[in-house]
Amino acid sequence: MTSDTTSSDTTGSGVPATATTFGEDTVTDARELIARYPQSRSALLPLLHLVQSVEGYVSQQGMTFCAEQLGLAEAEVAAVATFYTMYKRKPCGEHLVSVCTNTLCAAMGGDAIYKRLQEHLGSDGAPLGHEEVAGPPGESGSLMLEHAECLAACDLAPVLQVNYEYFDNQTEQSAVELVDALRRGDKPHPTRGAPLSDFKTVERRLAGLLPEDDDEFWTEVDGPSQAVETVRGAQLAADRNWTAPPAPEDVPMPEVEAK
Ligand code: FES
Repeated sequence: MTSDTTSSDTTGSGVPATATTFGEDTVTDARELIARYPQSRSALLPLLHLVQSVEGYVSQQGMTFCAEQLGLAEAEVAAVATFYTMYKRKPCGEHLVSVCTNTLCAAMGGDAIYKRLQEHLGSDGAPLGHEEVAGPPGESGSLMLEHAECLAACDLAPVLQVNYEYFDNQTEQSAVELVDALRRGDKPHPTRGAPLSDFKTVERRLAGLLPEDDDEFWTEVDGPSQAVETVRGAQLAADRNWTAPPAPEDVPMPEVEAK
């Protein structure tokens, strides 16, 4: 179901209120995403990313747009948008800087990195808070700082991400140098993966709208990205000719009580 049948006209002009923010291109993108799913409501998560690629966050209008496109109640959209931390309810910066402060990274220096960045990016003696922005949101060099749960790179702790691209084995000093570069408008290359872009561009990719013609992007994304640390155990086993014991055969599966 699309906006053609479900739009609420809050302007009284026959034009959906969201049309002022989300133009025809965004509606076309939304319809392309919706068509990928047997049931339109399954496209809600990609549509919320699409909204962030336009607005830099999910506003009330953004939620209305999703509801219109999918034939959902705004309360259903809000329930999802407010559940996942990747959907921001306040305008983000040009970049999103996520510092892992989960157990391993915290012990390896992540807590200290986050505290240092809070102080470094704060103003008037006040540290920058979680999901607060240094600089005018959306302007070049602005960035939102957040602390994050495990970013799935514990072997490279402490890590942080910029727009979900990894910067591994960080120190307080390297993290400060990184955010200073971002504030100047530079885009340092992540430790691995795609080159750095900006939050809105990445949100478009997360929606599932990929830059098909960008050869540099695909070369970087498809290139080798495994870290030495990640395969160190497997490499040691290979060097020493260790092998795993064969899997036992004919082992009956335990009985499981029927639900
Ligand atoms: S604890 Fe930081 S990546 Fe896992």
